[in-house]
Amino acid sequence: MSQKCVCVSDFEEEARRVLPKAVYDYYRSGADGQNTLSDNVAAFNRWHLIPRVMRDVSIVDLSLTMLGQNLSMPLCVGATAMQRMAHPAGETATARACKAAGTGMMLSSWATSSIEEVMSAMTTSPGSGGVLWMQLYIYKDRELTLSLVRRAEKAGYKAIFVTVDTPYLGKRLDDVRNRFKMPPHLRMSNFSSASLAFSEENYGDDSGLAVYVANAIEPALSWDDITWLKNHTNLPVIVKGVLNGEDAVKAVNYGVSGILVSNHGARQLDGVPATLDVLEEVVKAVQGRCDVYMDGGVRRGTDILKALALGAKAVFIGRPVLWGLAYQGEGGVTELLELLREELRLAMALSGCRSLSEVNRSLIRKVDFSSRM
Ligand SMILES: Cc1cc2nc3c(=O)[nH]c(=O)nc-3n(C[C@H](O)[C@H](O)[C@H](O)COP(=O)(O)O)c2cc1C
Repeated sequence: MSQKCVCVSDFEEEARRVLPKAVYDYYRSGADGQNTLSDNVAAFNRWHLIPRVMRDVSIVDLSLTMLGQNLSMPLCVGATAMQRMAHPAGETATARACKAAGTGMMLSSWATSSIEEVMSAMTTSPGSGGVLWMQLYIYKDRELTLSLVRRAEKAGYKAIFVTVDTPYLGKRLDDVRNRFKMPPHLRMSNFSSASLAFSEENYGDDSGLAVYVANAIEPALSWDDITWLKNHTNLPVIVKGVLNGEDAVKAVNYGVSGILVSNHGARQLDGVPATLDVLEEVVKAVQGRCDVYMDGGVRRGTDILKALALGAKAVFIGRPVLWGLAYQGEGGVTELLELLREELRLAMALSGCRSLSEVNRSLIRKVDFSSRM
């Protein structure tokens, strides 16, 4: 019997013990020297929380409305590919845990459970909350891309998060060394042909996924593709992977409903800033014209609170969910989400915030490292 996990890194330790090395490496890795990978986490320590006291925090309300849906907390599950490598129930287990937690889940285009299967898992499990959004990679084959959008619409997904930072796959050294490919019993379930389902046998000496992306994903993406996508769906479109104010303004001008400030969990271009460090620039550029979300390195309730104080409407987590899944499937993800919910509730209470509307910029101050020299 493993010991109870009391923080996110305990879940990671449990996952590291049970996962095959190539799977753990794929989930954990960042690109190249992984400088941004550690910085995503470290950035949270560059900001101090400035609490207010004596505010009657006997009741703290974490609920919000996001993209027209009610969520129980501003913590959502981000898209991570191939979740059945972590646990046999994969994305269906994550969806059930999100429903129980009353929060949203973004399903990867590269899921090992189909769009319909995951919706059915969420709909048929107990609980009254839970929302599904679709993460979209734009394929060179545009009809194929639109078929994913249509299937998501038909199944009842509530938004499309289009990933804009992956014209090619970032170079993840462990995946090259491990010649990463999917275990033979699994496939990307949203596609029928072996080549699109990432279930071919031979990807040579490289990371199999890097070869897959080079073959299938559109490297010629441009802002006009947002117009193209919006012309084909009535669902809200959110761009995932914006890291500066100028691109944020472009996104707003192209009519997006939201911007997810993300460096893809430091898996694409190494050397980019931690997402927390560019969040405020994006929030200021957007001037309230659409929602701003963030992901990358969120590991504690205080991290969530800091991101909200800098203007994020909600945050997403990637790897922690995979650790929860590997640890104990649906129950592990539920335990992880409840741990972070309680950490956020405590952080808000100790900061004197009774609801999300009381979380604002005055709650946070950049640490002045020059005064420590
Ligand atoms: C193993 C793994 C797989 C991922 N797969 C996808 C994906 O299929 N589509 C996508 O847009 N982002 C993907 N991401 C990026 C996540 O959506 C998210 O941006 C990132 O994980 C957040 O950082 P965190 O892991 O530090 O929480 C993946 C990340 C990881 C770690």
